[in-house]
Amino acid sequence: MKILVTGGTGYIGSHTVVELQSKGFEVIIVDDLSNSSIDVLDNIAKISGKKPLFEKFSLTDPEKTTAFFKLHNDIRAVIHFAAFKAVGESVEFPLVYYRNNILSLVNILQGMIDNNIRDLVFSSSCTVYGQPDTLPAREDTPVQKAASPYGNTKQICEEIINDTSQSANIHGILLRYFNPIGAHETAFIGELPLGVPNCLMPYITQTAIGKRPFLRVWGDDYDTPDGTAIRDYIHVVDLAKAHVTAVERLTGEKCKKNVEVFNLGTGNGLSVMEVIKSFERTSGLKLNYEIKERRPGDIVKVWADTEFANKELGWKAEKTLDEMTGSAWKWEQALAKRK
Ligand code: UD1
Repeated sequence: MKILVTGGTGYIGSHTVVELQSKGFEVIIVDDLSNSSIDVLDNIAKISGKKPLFEKFSLTDPEKTTAFFKLHNDIRAVIHFAAFKAVGESVEFPLVYYRNNILSLVNILQGMIDNNIRDLVFSSSCTVYGQPDTLPAREDTPVQKAASPYGNTKQICEEIINDTSQSANIHGILLRYFNPIGAHETAFIGELPLGVPNCLMPYITQTAIGKRPFLRVWGDDYDTPDGTAIRDYIHVVDLAKAHVTAVERLTGEKCKKNVEVFNLGTGNGLSVMEVIKSFERTSGLKLNYEIKERRPGDIVKVWADTEFANKELGWKAEKTLDEMTGSAWKWEQALAKRK
C-alpha cells in the first residue's frame, strides 16, 4: 500500500516514514526541503533498510501538485505534515504562513478528490485548545481563538478538512499533538532546528553540547507545584506510531465519522524543571540554566486526556520522560560527531 507523506524529511515526518516502512507500507515523500535535509533519506534507509521514494517541490504549487497526483495514481492515503511551524515567525510573516500552510492543504485535497484518494491524516496541534478552562484537554474541549497565525493555520486547516469531507468523499483523522520531543533510538534521525531553537528540548541539548551558554527558563512564578510551566511531552516515536495506526484505521474502514479527532499525548503534565532534572539524570551532566521572565504568549499548563485515543484509536504512548530526554541527548551528540 503506497502512502504519500508530505514533509517526510522533517522531524515527525521522518520518524513516521520509518514506522510506516517497518510495517510494510511503501512510502513516497514530497518535501520542498525548506526546513530539512536530503540526507534524511539515507538515514531513514540506515534504520529501515529501504530508501523511500522522494520528490522535491512545494505543494503550494497547484500545477506541480496536480501533475504529481496524476503520475502517482496508486497512492492509497496521505499523511500531511508539510507546514511551517515557528510561532514567532508566523507573527512576523503571517502571509507566508497562510500561503504555505493553507494553500498546500487545498492543493492536496484537490489532488485527492481528482484521483479518488479518500484517506487523509492531518498533523494538528494542541495549540488549538489555548489555555483550556478545564484539564486534561479532551478532544471536545472548546477550540479557542488562536494566539498566533501559526495556530490559526492549524484551526483553519481542520475546518477545511471538515468542510471538504461534507461535500466530497474524503475521510480524515486530525491528530492533535502535544509536545513531541526525543529522537529515534539509533540516533540516525531527530530534530534539526534551524538557527536558535525556540522549543525546550533542543535548547537543553544545544546548551549541554556547548552551542548555547545557558538555558533560559521562562518563568518560575506560575501557579504550578514548582512554579514552572507544564506541558505534556511525548516521545516522537510514540507519536509516529500513532500515524501508522491512523492510516490503518482509515484504510481498514474503521472510522466512525468522516472526520475524527484524536489527542496525541501521554496524559502526564510535566514542568520545565522536571524535564531539566530528567535530562540531568540521563546525560549525567549538570545543565546551566537561569530563571527569566515569563515568555509572552506561553500558557500555564496543558496536558491531554488520552482516553479516547487509547480506547478508540487503540494507541497509547509508551515511552518514559527519561527515554525522551536520553534519546534527545544521544541525537545531539551524534549530530556533533557528524560535523
Ligand atoms: C510550542 C508552540 C506550539 C507548538 C509546539 C510544538 C509556542 C507558543 N507554542 O509549544 O504552538 O504546537 O511548540 O512542539 O511557541 N521553555 C523554556 N525555555 C526555552 C524554551 C521553552 O523555559 O528556551 C519552556 C516554555 O516556556 C514552555 C515549555 O518550555 O513552558 C515548552 O516550550 P516549547 O518547547 O517552546 O513548547 P510550547 O511553547 O508548549
